[in-house]
Amino acid sequence: MKADYLFVPACEADIDQLAALEVDLFHTDRCSRKTFRYLIRHAQVVVIKRPGDTEIFGYAILLGRKNSRKMRIYSFGIAAAARGNGLAGRLLEVLEDIVRAKKCSMLTLEVSDSNVAAIGLYKKHGFAQCGFRLGYYEDGGHAILMRKTLDGTRNRQ
Ligand SMILES: CC(C)(COP(=O)(O)OP(=O)(O)OC[C@H]1O[C@@H](n2cnc3c(N)ncnc32)[C@H](O)[C@@H]1OP(=O)(O)O)[C@@H](O)C(=O)NCCC(=O)NCCS
Repeated sequence: MKADYLFVPACEADIDQLAALEVDLFHTDRCSRKTFRYLIRHAQVVVIKRPGDTEIFGYAILLGRKNSRKMRIYSFGIAAAARGNGLAGRLLEVLEDIVRAKKCSMLTLEVSDSNVAAIGLYKKHGFAQCGFRLGYYEDGGHAILMRKTLDGTRNRQ
């Protein structure tokens, strides 16, 4: 039977693994250990694990603001060995549930204009381009801004 996964809040014990995963996933604009520590306390950091195991297969960081109905995906990724199994799609659905639970109705994100896989993922899950930022990333790369309006119910793909 295929082992299933849990989508759970990150804890401080996850910081080493999160920082290592960040190095594997991104070549620029990485979160530091200090940033992860801060975000675990003050934002929503969701990690993917298997029951009874501490290994992290993917994670996402979701930011919100007081008095705003928007939340933003600040970082998102799946470990290379775990890709292609629908985990990213499931993680997005978990984030959308959090957004709805917080009575917010809009999810936004930035993605590199060269990141074909992530752009395909977000489009498949109903995100649409709403802007473009030239030289947005530390390496000079450009970002596509995307957003998705959420109603009160989960709309499975
Ligand atoms: C983008 C990423 C999260 C996808 O993770 P994943 O678990 O493989 O994705 P899923 O299996 O849930 O795939 C869902 C959809 O994403 C898209 N997708 C995933 N990999 C793709 C690829 N290599 N090329 C094109 N589309 C791709 C497809 O639409 C796919 O749907 P399909 O299987 O019906 O074709 C993963 O490649 C990753 O972590 N990349 C590095 C970090 C990163 O770029 N994060 C996003 C920052 S904005």
